[in-house]
Amino acid sequence: MKSEPTVFLFFPFLLRLKLESTNLPILIHYTMRTSIRQYSSRPVEDDLLNELLAQAEQTQTMGNLQLYSVVVTRSDEMKQKLAPAHFNQPMVTGAPVVLTFCADYHRTTAWAQHRKGHPGYDNFLSYQNAATDALLFCQRFCDLAEAAGLGLCFLGTTVYQPAAIIRLLQLPQLVMPVATITLGWPAEHPNPSDRLPLSAIRHDETYQPVTAETIDRDYAAKEALPENLEFVRINQTETLAQIFTDIRYTAKDCQTLSTGLLEALRMQGFLD
Ligand SMILES: Cc1cc2nc3c(=O)[nH]c(=O)nc-3n(C[C@H](O)[C@H](O)[C@H](O)COP(=O)(O)O)c2cc1C
Repeated sequence: MKSEPTVFLFFPFLLRLKLESTNLPILIHYTMRTSIRQYSSRPVEDDLLNELLAQAEQTQTMGNLQLYSVVVTRSDEMKQKLAPAHFNQPMVTGAPVVLTFCADYHRTTAWAQHRKGHPGYDNFLSYQNAATDALLFCQRFCDLAEAAGLGLCFLGTTVYQPAAIIRLLQLPQLVMPVATITLGWPAEHPNPSDRLPLSAIRHDETYQPVTAETIDRDYAAKEALPENLEFVRINQTETLAQIFTDIRYTAKDCQTLSTGLLEALRMQGFLD
């Protein structure tokens, strides 16, 4: 168990060193990364988890206030209870650790109240700031965990049924779950998934028009991938896009889940 913290402890140093000389080692790391959904029975030691979380705290944060918190779930009982809120995705009960990252203005507000401050963070702007903080912290944690050899998967279902998570984790006012990470030592080694070419996402000086030509230019390779052609065949759609719009993320579902998200934000006091 000793080797992971050691590798990890040196990671920030290595990162700096490599960036000063050449970007290649960093690029290799990132182009090879994948989500991991199957985990070995090897435990994730609490010392390592604390080390990673503590290092991730150094990420940028609004006003240096650290408007986030993380709930660590290790018990089988809590994982079983959380699973339905994540549509019973098997990673929730299959991972040694489940982390729920929260936008958190509760602690900062309490601090201010105890120190004769006048906090006014029961509004959507404050949620946006805290959510940004929480997601930056979460992403930094993910980078560090993956660099230490751990595998993880981001669960977007956190914002689909937030009320259930809020209740289970007993999140107080001004705390909102924004991301869940299942974490463990990898028991699978999937191939990296494709990404769009840079031309799809980069705009110089002003946003450039998205046209039939740029769509062909940027999506042709993705649409021609054998796995995506197979995906279309299995789903019996005409195009790859239709799988997303008509099956996976439908307008009706998005509307329903969006309503639930707004209700949860109101319940937590961010829309007063
Ligand atoms: C906002 C967001 C929500 C996601 N939700 C889920 C999820 O609920 N279940 C899952 O298995 N993966 C989820 N993922 C992981 C993506 O499916 C994955 O990152 C994407 O397919 C690219 O694959 P890669 O991470 O292996 O490169 C999510 C990722 C993000 C950023």
